[in-house]
Amino acid sequence: MKILLTGRNGQLGWELARALAPLGEVIAFDRSSLDLAVPDQIVSAVRSVRPDVLVNAAAYTAVDQAETEQDAAQAINAVAVAVLAEEAKRARALFVHYSTDYVFDGTKDTAYLEEDLPNPLNAYGRSKLAGEQAIRSIDGHYLILRTSWVYAARGKNFLLTIRRLLRERQELRVVSDQIGAPTSAEALAHASAELLRRHTPAALGDARGVYHTTAAGYTSWHGFATEIARLERPDPPVRIVPIASSEYPSPARRPRNSCLSNEKSRRNFGVELPHWVVCLRACHGALQSAAQLDTVTRYRR
Ligand SMILES: NC(=O)c1ccc[n+]([C@@H]2O[C@H](COP(=O)([O-])OP(=O)(O)OC[C@H]3O[C@@H](n4cnc5c(N)ncnc54)[C@H](OP(=O)(O)O)[C@@H]3O)[C@@H](O)[C@H]2O)c1
Repeated sequence: MKILLTGRNGQLGWELARALAPLGEVIAFDRSSLDLAVPDQIVSAVRSVRPDVLVNAAAYTAVDQAETEQDAAQAINAVAVAVLAEEAKRARALFVHYSTDYVFDGTKDTAYLEEDLPNPLNAYGRSKLAGEQAIRSIDGHYLILRTSWVYAARGKNFLLTIRRLLRERQELRVVSDQIGAPTSAEALAHASAELLRRHTPAALGDARGVYHTTAAGYTSWHGFATEIARLERPDPPVRIVPIASSEYPSPARRPRNSCLSNEKSRRNFGVELPHWVVCLRACHGALQSAAQLDTVTRYRR
């Protein structure tokens, strides 16, 4: 199987490059080899690779910055996605794309289902929804995997920010009225690869549609930070104080309820991610091992 992967230096792209490798030949692009802001580059990359599966892990992900860079967000998350979907269809390839909980407004009381009506609160969410709509209207063979609160051992994310702050401060004030599923990029990449291992691209194409794909379980940002602190065991312990979203104003509004039901993915494909705490422990373990190796290397120098 020939797999074209975009965004290979992102949190998810990095993990996908590793997870997809056993499935066949992975041709992975970063921004310097394929700039999604330039549609011609997309066309020539897909036409020269001629993939069986095109996995798009690249995106404009700066949620707050998108409020003042709406054109840039639309260019990468909607216009480029439409070109990728067109080219995948032309190549008769399966298009695997990632979207977000931020397509919803968070007013629902229970977990969102795939058929619930999107109503994004911010420019990033609108650009991702426009990407989803473009893929659906092009109507090739596609999977849109909506995920949430992605973190990894590398990149810019909540886990790494909290780890740093735990070393710098005695008290952290963290939002407790936004609920969602922290999702490890490694677990999401593994689940994506598992989909392709268990089902042929043709079978996945027949089941085309949107699938919610997050870690199991839910928590608040405060709950997430508390679990990170528990694993890190800072001494003296850092107080993690719950605050309301209104006490932490940001340029982009965020949904209060970001919980996505993974039932459809489990039912159709038999694939589900572990509980978010299990994934967090694994990521924390990887960070600890990396730190230990770093210490050993420095000691030997
Ligand atoms: N992060 C989250 O919390 C979250 C939540 C829900 C859904 N998602 C979705 O999950 C997917 C993966 O997100 P992630 O967390 O892995 O994001 P990420 O770490 O920000 O990675 C995004 C990648 O896209 C690349 N990119 C941006 N503009 C590009 C361009 N013009 N041409 C080529 N590449 C470009 C970036 O390249 P550079 O490295 O050069 O900047 C980066 O490597 C995205 O679809 C995102 O919308 C993420």
